[in-house]
Amino acid sequence: MYIALEGVEGCGKTTVINILKRRLKERGKTFQVVKEPGTTKIGNKIREILLHDYENELDLNTELLLFMASRSSMIHQVIRPIQEEFILSDRCFLSSLAYQCNFDADLAQRIYRMHLELFEGNLPDKIFFIDIHPSKALCRKSQKDINKYEKKAMIFHEKVYHMYKEVLKEYSIAVDGNRRAVSIADDIARQIGL
Ligand code: TYD
Repeated sequence: MYIALEGVEGCGKTTVINILKRRLKERGKTFQVVKEPGTTKIGNKIREILLHDYENELDLNTELLLFMASRSSMIHQVIRPIQEEFILSDRCFLSSLAYQCNFDADLAQRIYRMHLELFEGNLPDKIFFIDIHPSKALCRKSQKDINKYEKKAMIFHEKVYHMYKEVLKEYSIAVDGNRRAVSIADDIARQIGL
């Protein structure tokens, strides 16, 4: 089962994934953790371009295509050949719909269809949206080493949140993010039969 966690910056995805990893280990399940952008050598190079190296030179289309290129290399090299029972992913295509579609519902729909065209059968089985407002989530992030998106103004993060919560809600299962990470992980674990 391919599971992805989504949400605004600082929503707690990484902590919840670490708890889920422990739980999978305890239950004797095999699994692999992946991260977008990243995971493969190509993906990690693209990650540097997107988040650090050329952060001020990227127009929205170039950004979208680079995220998709990282995703494509991960799907080709890791997701398709995978043998493990579970894949836990830190973000997935839903981030591209929330961040790179100019907050436009129609464009998001078209980009979703493009993902189906390219990657159908290799997209997550379940996406959990950790629902916490960015005004709460972002203050948890340390101000050290923050990436291009984390530097953006609150209005940007509020729009991203609106995309996840309203415009894109049919693609994910919302879980209340205003709780301790263990309860969020318990909730997700229950919904994936762990
Ligand atoms: P990362 O350091 O992994 O942050 P986080 O812990 O919040 O996931 O940075 C990934 C950043 O890339 C994050 O700010 C969201 C952004 N992103 C997109 O804009 N589009 C995408 O398709 C993906 C996968 C990520």
